[in-house]
Amino acid sequence: MKLFLDTGNIRDIEAYCAIGIIDGVTTNPSLMAREEGDPRAITKRICEIVRGPVSAEVLATDAEGMIREGRDLAAIDPHVVIKVPFGKAGVQACKALREDGIGVNVTLVFTPAQALLAAKAGASFVSPFVGRLDDVATDGMELVAQIVEIYENYGYQTEIIVASVRHPMHVVQAARLGAHICTCPAAVIEALFKHPLTDVGIERFLRDWAAAKGARP
Ligand code: E4P
Repeated sequence: MKLFLDTGNIRDIEAYCAIGIIDGVTTNPSLMAREEGDPRAITKRICEIVRGPVSAEVLATDAEGMIREGRDLAAIDPHVVIKVPFGKAGVQACKALREDGIGVNVTLVFTPAQALLAAKAGASFVSPFVGRLDDVATDGMELVAQIVEIYENYGYQTEIIVASVRHPMHVVQAARLGAHICTCPAAVIEALFKHPLTDVGIERFLRDWAAAKGARP
């Protein structure tokens, strides 16, 4: 499973890309609004760091506007993927941008029917929001399971990005279900690394070595 970072923060992107486990980045208007500077320049810099798909979301709400904005954003860098919100306008824009050869991520997907329509429009990626479903007492990972089943039934090439991830178990469940990608905030990536027994184990190895050999390596 590919891991994407769900952020517009350059420092976090540099730090986790340096480790070698990040395959792409997703941004959205809320995330970009938190960052200082020109959003186009930030998007370009993210592309240079990650060298994988970088989702940049349109602000337009009509199909024509989304297509225009999508073409403009795609000109920033070949790694840019245009994120369009699900809906009639988004699906229509998806179809047109894909015909231009531009990658599209259909976002704000909350039902398997929406994911089916996104795939039919040729979406490169679809983003089911598991955390926001969990927030309203609906099983977000069940949505992912149903999309995986539908896409497998028909051989759709659209890749599933599990989004709105809140904790490490969302990542584990995404991988168990066979989702292609999980996009995570930096805090969730950080949590994936952590286990108290790993920390205690390292400490014990170093203590035992120092006790036997007299000095820490
Ligand atoms: C995904 O592409 C979205 O940017 C993101 O995962 C939304 O997450 P949130 O529900 O935490 O805002």
